[in-house]
Amino acid sequence: MNPNLETRVEQARAILAANDRGGYTVPTDRLYPFQWNWDSAFVAMGWATFDGERAWREIERLLEGQWEDGLVPQIVFHAPSDDYFPGPEVWGITRSPPTSGITQPPVLASAVRFVLERLGKAGEARAAAIYPKLVLNHGWWERARGPGLGGLVATLHPWETGMDNSPAWDVALARVPTQTTTAIQRRDTGHIDASFRPRGVEYQRFIHLVDLFRGAGWDPARMLAVSPFKVADVATNAILLRAERDLLDLAGRFGSAAERAAITQRIAAKETALAGLWHEPLSAYLSRDLVSGEPIPVRTSAGFLPLFAGLHGKASFLAERLQAWRARGIALVPSTDPDDPRFEPQRYWRGPVWAVVNWMTAEGLAVAGEPETAALVLAETRRLIGEAGFSEYFDSTSGAGIGGDTFSWTAAIDLLLAEDAVA
Ligand code: DGY
Repeated sequence: MNPNLETRVEQARAILAANDRGGYTVPTDRLYPFQWNWDSAFVAMGWATFDGERAWREIERLLEGQWEDGLVPQIVFHAPSDDYFPGPEVWGITRSPPTSGITQPPVLASAVRFVLERLGKAGEARAAAIYPKLVLNHGWWERARGPGLGGLVATLHPWETGMDNSPAWDVALARVPTQTTTAIQRRDTGHIDASFRPRGVEYQRFIHLVDLFRGAGWDPARMLAVSPFKVADVATNAILLRAERDLLDLAGRFGSAAERAAITQRIAAKETALAGLWHEPLSAYLSRDLVSGEPIPVRTSAGFLPLFAGLHGKASFLAERLQAWRARGIALVPSTDPDDPRFEPQRYWRGPVWAVVNWMTAEGLAVAGEPETAALVLAETRRLIGEAGFSEYFDSTSGAGIGGDTFSWTAAIDLLLAEDAVA
């Protein structure tokens, strides 16, 4: 084995260990001092490369925050911290552990399948105990966010998409008033340069939505009815379709025939609905604004994720787009199309590269018969981390590392890629 690689693997493992707060991993120290939903799913996969017990604990601790109706919250506030706003007092949810009241992209079932396959028989009892919670969670998506959407699900807050300030949300978010009953006390800009983070007016709207949903008692039907921000996010829907496929695999080991039939039916509906998000005039998969009913005409990295969901019809076309960007010196995968006037290569989800999106895109490309572009995206990810460190995200023009450093999900993805490199 290459001695440099060994050092790098050790560094990545050390980041997960340093961010471990007792069975759960914070995304990074101070900026994000709690357990985040989709971060933890990727981080569990990273743990699985060297500590199986710890991988299962990550998932179990996240599920300590699951609500009775099946919601897996965006944040589980296991222990108090003054480093983050909005903390549990703003959400006003009196559970133990306290949680936020919204969710994040549902990577979890895919992570459970990954960890189980990795650990084999040894993990079966753990996975069997987790499986019903995943079934409950996927049911929640249908009941709470799917009614009337023909296989798609709605997202009610940019934080739920995980791509908080994507330009895809600009128009839908502009409908949200800027008044808040909660006094805004941003902490993120105390840790990170403000020019790399969402703008102040976006935060006002983010908090307006939290105030609104708290006023609706976190009741899913009321939230759906009152939210001025309601989108069918192409990333969330693609990740959910992939997660349904992985849940079906788990159901084959742990579930009933009735569960398998229900999941199979959902997969069929989602395949058709997700394919329907392809927009020929912009040659891209686009999110849909569920208030106006119109496609959102902004090409973002979310549009590559239907490949991860197993839709392969547009694979060669999307692969060519990535190759063309790289040929122009753009680091892959920029979170917004570099030709879009709203592209900002350093501002969070308006242009930078994120390792988790790269990993999902490459997974999709590889299975879709585009191994060269898959390898290119993985090589880019390794290059950026190798040159800039385990940053939260990367400038898609210069490759510089931005945001939190020693970031858990970047370390986790690097561990997955290191294994590919070794193999
Ligand atoms: C943030 O950036 O504070 C959001 O909570 C991310 O989920």
